[in-house]
Amino acid sequence: MDVIFSGIQPSGNLTLGNYLGALKSFLRFQDTHECYYCVVNQHAITVPQDPKELRRRTTELAALYIAAGLDPEKVTLFVQSEVPEHVQLGWIMTTLAYVGEMERMTQYKDKAKKAGESIPYGLMAYPCLMVADILLYQAKLVPVGEDQRQHIEITRTLAERFNYRYGEVFTIPEMFAPEGGARVMSLQNPTSKMSKSDDNQMASIYLGDEDDMIVKKIKRAQTDSDGEIRYDKENKPGVSNLLSIHAALSGRTFDQLAADYAGQGYGTLKADVADLVVGELRPIRERYRELLDSPELQRILDDGAAKAQAKASATYRKACEAMGLQR
Ligand code: AMP
Ligand code: TRP
Repeated sequence: MDVIFSGIQPSGNLTLGNYLGALKSFLRFQDTHECYYCVVNQHAITVPQDPKELRRRTTELAALYIAAGLDPEKVTLFVQSEVPEHVQLGWIMTTLAYVGEMERMTQYKDKAKKAGESIPYGLMAYPCLMVADILLYQAKLVPVGEDQRQHIEITRTLAERFNYRYGEVFTIPEMFAPEGGARVMSLQNPTSKMSKSDDNQMASIYLGDEDDMIVKKIKRAQTDSDGEIRYDKENKPGVSNLLSIHAALSGRTFDQLAADYAGQGYGTLKADVADLVVGELRPIRERYRELLDSPELQRILDDGAAKAQAKASATYRKACEAMGLQR
């Protein structure tokens, strides 16, 4: 069975973007693949985190994985810091990567700009840890949103470089980006992506938002003045974003949606998108609340870490042997 690996950082509140770009697409592999889904808390500390908050968010994100529909009987759910091989192989990856490659990462450049003068070194090393996450499980496919494309590329590059220098150890992974949901845009500024860290609360739909808040945010979403409902990302980014969200949840194509809404106003489209989002998120929110209070969760994560480590340590051992490192 081919292996799937992905992870989400427990930093900030998850948005509809994280859900459609990542979490929802995790589900489609659970019956057909060997899946590892990780809460990547060691990635989150590349920017300062409050320790108590980090601990709480880590557990919350694990609960959300299950609430969204991942079945712990079928997939391995775990917390990154509980499997030390991630950091161990991460170090090896820093010795393969070139400084220039790391400096060219667009996410690094964006985050470094925000960090001001004192840029945490981990912010630059971050892709090496992500490479290790993926390679440890010999993953074939990595479901992520479009913003992670460059990180998947560097994973392939470093895996090939390692295999070339030291012998075939790692599987070369590929990215899996869901159609429609791979890049959900801000509701207030639809030319930039919907983000956990947006200061404008109206710009993002959070998975914890109550129904009426979701409706309000979608109603106020920025559109344009020509009144026509069709997909045109260049000229109609706001309407196109609503159509993408619709398509990701309803399964309709853009052409079908243009026909469905011919002659109708933005109000109708927004009401329908709001219904779809509310209908999708409400049951997740309800299951999530139940899970947070259940003692099951800790047991699931302990089992997950043990299973993940069994796989990770076998790969790590091979990598060490290939490089001449005692284990
Ligand atoms: P992060 O919030 O950076 O930990 O991202 C977790 C996952 O969500 C990654 O696979 C991202 O590619 C995905 N993601 C984040 N924001 C969006 C968005 N606006 N649209 C689609 N996917 C996203
Ligand atoms: N870098 C990813 C993000 O910011 C999170 C991540 C870390 C990840 N390790 C991973 C995603 C491994 C997929 C596979 O969203």
